Amino acid sequence: MRDLEGKTAVITGGASGIGLAFAECFGREGMNVVMADIEAGALRRAAARVEAVGAAVLPVVTDVGDEASMTLLGEAAREAFGNPHLICLNAGVSAPTGPMEELTANDWRWTLDVNVWGIIHGIRVFLPELKRRDEGHVVVTASVAGLTSYPWMAAYNASKHAAASIAESMHSELREAGSRVRVSCLCPGAVATNIAGAERNRPKELANASREEAEVVAQLPGDLEEFSERFEAISQTPADVAERVLAAVVEERFWIETDEAYRDAIKARHRSIEDRTDPPARGVILGPYLES
Ligand SMILES: NC(=O)c1ccc[n+]([C@@H]2O[C@H](COP(=O)([O-])OP(=O)(O)OC[C@H]3O[C@@H](n4cnc5c(N)ncnc54)[C@H](O)[C@@H]3O)[C@@H](O)[C@H]2O)c1
Repeated sequence: MRDLEGKTAVITGGASGIGLAFAECFGREGMNVVMADIEAGALRRAAARVEAVGAAVLPVVTDVGDEASMTLLGEAAREAFGNPHLICLNAGVSAPTGPMEELTANDWRWTLDVNVWGIIHGIRVFLPELKRRDEGHVVVTASVAGLTSYPWMAAYNASKHAAASIAESMHSELREAGSRVRVSCLCPGAVATNIAGAERNRPKELANASREEAEVVAQLPGDLEEFSERFEAISQTPADVAERVLAAVVEERFWIETDEAYRDAIKARHRSIEDRTDPPARGVILGPYLES
């Protein structure tokens, strides 16, 4: 999509981090911006920031895991700005980290509701109209966790593999149909956002029953104590990620990676599939976090 001026972007998870950076970036390009997020106060403040760059903004409080809420988002966007052109299915959460048998059913449910169902609902609401008009672009936010499988992040990994697969399937189907609608799959590494505090948005009905369940992270191996510190040290800024996404949308590219640090781990994983050897162990996958 080469010309963004005057067109409309819908961004889920728009109140914070990568989604907010998308909104500011696309707003600066002259797009109308529909910002969808579950966190009403943060959304209001974020919308004011994006208006300050001169964009027309519609904030819509939305739960991406809820089909009816996403249907209402589609209606609100069309009513405000007409049919949207750029759909960023970006909202995501990260449940507590820990051995997979210790993750609760609620950890799995919440992660899959937001990170997978949010994308499925978004596609069902927005893709038919994009295909009918034969124009537009869908950006799915996956992760390097959608291309490799980090230990102690099973629910998140599974959700991000699903996100990448959905994006790839959508791309294949659109090419098969001869459509001009494009898809990108964003696979960031570490980005400095508020995702570490994702629990703030966990619905009460999916809360963990006990304190122990909520703190599985405390049982991780000792050498991961520096995890958070290193994570921040190698993090990209959301604004940098948004610039890469803007370039990929304009150039109509599918894969968007944010840095080189994970290339070896991704290659090693793919090589193991080609060679039918065991998948790489944590040293390869967590290397960028543990050794930088
Ligand atoms: N930060 C990273 O290192 C990183 C790396 C790879 C991928 N990602 C992905 O990037 C995306 C954006 O995350 P972020 O890092 O900017 O985190 P963030 O917490 O700063 O932003 C996520 C936004 O999603 C919103 N959200 C949560 N649940 C929602 C729901 N049910 N409905 C609507 N909105 C909801 C939050 O309120 C928040 O505003 C996620 O999909 C995340 O998995 C992040």
